[in-house]
Formats: sequence, structure tokens, C-alpha cells
Amino acid sequence: MGKLYAISGVTGMTGNELVRQILTEDSRDRILGFDNFYASSIDTVSDRIDDERFEFFEYDLNNKEQMLDFENRVRSASPKYDEVIYINCAAVVHTEHFYHVYETFETNVEGMNEFLQQAIRVGAGKFINCSTSEVYSMNSWNENGGVKESDYLTMAVAEHSQRTSYATGKLLTEFFMKDAVDEGRIRGCSIRFANVYSKDERYPKHIIPYIINSFRDEGKVVLLENSRKNRRTFLNNYDSCSAVLALASTDTALDGTVYNVATDEEISIIDLATLCAKKMGITEPVIEFEGYRESDPERRLLSTEKIRTRTSWRPVVGLDKGLDECISNYIPRVSRDL
Ligand SMILES: NC(=O)c1ccc[n+]([C@@H]2O[C@H](COP(=O)([O-])OP(=O)(O)OC[C@H]3O[C@@H](n4cnc5c(N)ncnc54)[C@H](O)[C@@H]3O)[C@@H](O)[C@H]2O)c1
Repeated sequence: MGKLYAISGVTGMTGNELVRQILTEDSRDRILGFDNFYASSIDTVSDRIDDERFEFFEYDLNNKEQMLDFENRVRSASPKYDEVIYINCAAVVHTEHFYHVYETFETNVEGMNEFLQQAIRVGAGKFINCSTSEVYSMNSWNENGGVKESDYLTMAVAEHSQRTSYATGKLLTEFFMKDAVDEGRIRGCSIRFANVYSKDERYPKHIIPYIINSFRDEGKVVLLENSRKNRRTFLNNYDSCSAVLALASTDTALDGTVYNVATDEEISIIDLATLCAKKMGITEPVIEFEGYRESDPERRLLSTEKIRTRTSWRPVVGLDKGLDECISNYIPRVSRDL
């Protein structure tokens, strides 16, 4: 009979790729999804919008009437499917919004909890909660193969930066998830993604599109002073979504706990900029430094032993291939050939 997916934030970076990965040619699954276009547009699913297995609603996670309507639609569709899986992708994400305490609280914490309660009310079997590796805050790495889900946290606090409000909100959602599973209301887990990127990104301030677009449009890139030292791993959107689906289809993994999802391919931001420039045919890239971000960890390196042990998930898109795809998408062939 197939599975029924209920996805919030479905036109966002994670949501739209999930639609693509779920609705393969012979899939009997169906998706009910919504988004309020806070940070996306319908264009991201234009290749699937006519697929009768996908129904989209321009709804807001914080709008009670719209959520009630969505709930009723899921409830009435659910008897035709083997199981109902909720995936919460809707969130106030991205660097500049992280500082908006009330907005992140309303959507990322209250909205997440309402969506979780909705999943429980409709009798959904599973709930996947997208959390973030930002919760590792100032202890985002170690020399023993990266931070683990069970490591204690050292958070930057309001004394340091309002930015951590995003991470603390997400951290709270992990407790909601755990409580719901421990109380036997649903199965599920939280996922701490680290630095997801995509060739179709709509948000030009994420570092990879920012670097590529800056070289393309300005002939140079201006980085934060932090970038002189900072190192990161980057997770291709294809791999973040395949992790969501790997977890959703592994019942034994859905014990309410947290899973790191990342790669271990670490690169400094300066080397990332130089690599992008090289791939774009720029031999002597101009890299300038301006501004400083408080409480930004120098590294973010996650252990993915837990998800690799409990599921068959492995990342398949290396940074080299991922950057090639980004560059060919952001820079039309004709302008690269000039
Ligand atoms: N991108 C990353 O690097 C990253 C890293 C760690 C965790 N995450 C988490 O993964 C999840 C998905 O993130 P993403 O990268 O796809 O971000 P995204 O911004 O591309 O997608 C989020 C979507 O939610 C929508 N949205 C926001 N507020 C809404 C509301 N009130 N009602 C309905 N829709 C709303 C946005 O319009 C957007 O389409 C989020 O929970 C995010 O916190 C992302």
C-alpha cells in the first residue's frame, strides 16, 4: 500500500529533496506537504508539483486553522497506507535568522511540538525531528573521531551571543522527541545535521553559494575574520535526505535519541574558497576578510558512528563532486566558457 509522508517545510532545501527521493518512479508512497515560503518558493518542487502522489499546501506551521486542516487531510488519507511518517523540516534556519529569538522559538520549538502532537493525534507511527549540530556549540569537535551524540555540551550563552538561541531551541525539541517515544506515543528520533549544502540552494548566504556567487559577480570573496582559522565538514543535501529516509525505515533506530549526520571530510574555509576558485578557473583568487562572529567554534567535526552502526546509511556525494555540481548549477555553462 505504500507510506504516507507528512512533511513540513517541504519546499525548503531538505523538504524538496525528500520529495524527489521518496517519489521514485515505482514508489506507491504519497506526500502531503506544506510550506509558508518563509525561505523558499514553489519553484523548488516544480518538477514534482504535477505528480498526483504529491499534494502541496501553502500553510504556516504556526497557523492553527491551517494545521487543523492539514491534520484532517492526513487523518482521512491514512487508512489507505501501511504507515504514516511525519518529517519536520519547517524551521527558521540560516545565519542571519539565528539571532531572532522569538521567531525561532515560535516556529522551531512551539511549532515543532505542535506538529509532533499532531502526529501523535493522527496515530502516525514515526516522527523525524530535524535538529542541528549547532547544539554542540563551543565543543563541536574532538581529536577522537569527532563529537558524539552522548557527549556533554558546552554552550555559548546569552552573555556571548543571541545566536545560540537557535541551538538551544533545537536542543529542547530533542527532549520533546525523546519524551514522546519514552511515553510510548510514537517512534522517532532527532537528527543533528552539520552544514548541509545543495546545488539548488536558494539562500545565497550559506557559505558555498556565497563563495561561488561572490567570485562570479564580484571577482572576489569577502570572508569573516573567523575564516582564517575555521574548518568545517559539508554534507550534501542528497546525503542528508538519504539519512532521514534510512532512519525512517529502520524501526530499531527510532528510540527517541539523537543521530549525528555529517561527513568527515574537513576543510578550512580559506581552502574551500580557493578550491571553488580553482574549479571556476580563477588562478589567483582575491580573498578579503571583514567582520568577526562571536562564539563561532573553530571546527565542527561529528562522529557518525551511531547512524552507521544502526542503519546502512553512508554519505555518497564527496565535496569534490558536490562542488562541481554547485558550480555547474550556479554558473551557466555559457559564462564559464567565455
Ligand atoms: N541547512 C543546514 O545546514 C542545516 C543544518 C542543521 C540542521 N538543519 C535543520 O534541517 C531542517 C531543514 O532545513 P533546511 O536546510 O531545509 O532549511 P530551509 O530554510 O531550506 O527549509 C526550511 C523550510 O521551512 C519553511 N518554513 C519556515 N517557517 C515556516 C512556517 N512557520 N511554516 C511553514 N514553513 C516554514 C521555509 O520556508 C523553508 O522552506 C531545519 O529544521 C533545520 O534547522 C539544517
